[in-house]
Amino acid sequence: MSCLHIAVQQQVIDTRHKTLLRSECYLGHRSLRRGHRIEGSMSTDNHEMKSHELKSPDGQGGDRVSTAAAPPIRARRIKFSYPTGAMKRHFVNDDLLMSHVVSMLSSVFPEGEDFFIRSVKYYMKDVTDPVLKAQVAGFIGQEFTHGREHREINERLQAMGYPTRRSDRLTKRALATIYRHAPHRYSLAMTAALEHYTATLASLLLTNSKARDLLTSDEVRALLLWHAYEEVEHKAVAFDVYRHTGGGEGLRIWTMRSIHLTFLGSTLVSTTLSLLTDPSTYNPVRLARSVAAIRSNPWLNRDVLRELGTYTRRGFHPSDNDTAYLLDTWRAELFGDQGVLAHNLVDGRRASSN
Ligand SMILES: [Fe+2]
Ligand SMILES: [Fe+2]
Repeated sequence: MSCLHIAVQQQVIDTRHKTLLRSECYLGHRSLRRGHRIEGSMSTDNHEMKSHELKSPDGQGGDRVSTAAAPPIRARRIKFSYPTGAMKRHFVNDDLLMSHVVSMLSSVFPEGEDFFIRSVKYYMKDVTDPVLKAQVAGFIGQEFTHGREHREINERLQAMGYPTRRSDRLTKRALATIYRHAPHRYSLAMTAALEHYTATLASLLLTNSKARDLLTSDEVRALLLWHAYEEVEHKAVAFDVYRHTGGGEGLRIWTMRSIHLTFLGSTLVSTTLSLLTDPSTYNPVRLARSVAAIRSNPWLNRDVLRELGTYTRRGFHPSDNDTAYLLDTWRAELFGDQGVLAHNLVDGRRASSN
C-alpha cells in the first residue's frame, strides 16, 4: 500500500474523530493536500481551512497565508517539573548517543527561541495585516514559554552531567553576534528556516510512534509533545512575516542552505563534546550498541530529509505540508481533561486549550 493510500485512509479516520496516533507516514499529506490545493482552499468532510490573502504593507501582492481560519495561536500556561532522581542518566530509551543529541538540542532552545523572538519582533512594526499581527503575538508568547521550560530541564540535565550550560553560553554568543552584525533581514530568514526544522521534527514526533517510544522519560516526552504541538501550530508565522515584509526568495533559499550546514555541523560538534564528558562513552560495548542503533533510528529517515529539502524550492510555503490534521488529532490527546498534559496546565486552562 502506498504512502498516499495510507495518508488518505488516515485523513478519513481523522475526520471521524478517531485516533491518528499510530500514523507513520505523514508526508503522504503533502501529496494529499496538493490534490486539494485549488485556489487556496481545502476542505474535507468536517474540516475546512480557507486561505487568507495577505497583502504586503504597500497594499501590493498577495502572499498566501493558509492559517487564517485555524484556531488563533496563543501561549498556554503550562509547567513541567523534574524531581531529583526522576530521570535516568540516559533518559532517551537508555541510549547513549540519543540522550546526548536530545540534551544538546534542548540546550540551544532557550537562546534560539530568544533569537527567534527578537528577529520577528523587529519587523512587528511593518506588519499591517491584523491576522498576522495576532499570530506574531501568539508566536512570541509560545516561544517565550518554550525557552523558559527548556531552561528548566537544561538545568536538570546539567546536574545529570550534560554540559548544557556551556552549550547555552556558546549559542548565546553566536546568535548575539549574528543579530548584531548581520542584516536584520538575515536573522528573520534564519528564523524562518529554523522554524521549518523544528516543525519538521515536531511533525515526526507527532506522527511516528517509534520516535515517541524512544522518549521513555514521561516528563521529557510530555515536554517535547507540548513543544512539538505548538511548533506545528505556529510553523508559518516567521515565514509569513518574512514574506509580508518583502523578504526575497534568493536570501530565503540561500539561508536555508547555510543552515543545513551550520545546524547539522554544530549539533554534531556539541554532541561529540558532550559525549566526551560521559564515562559511558568510553565503554566500547555501550558505544558500539548505541552506534549500531542509529541504523534503525526513526528520527533519521528519508521522509525527514525530503521534508527539510522542500524549503529550498522556489514558491515553497510551510502550509504546503498540511499538518492541520495533527493539531486536530492531538488537541484533546494533550490538552483535554484526560489529556497527557492535563496536570501540567496551570490554573485549569484545559477547557480553553481545546
Ligand atoms: Fe519553540
Ligand atoms: Fe517555533
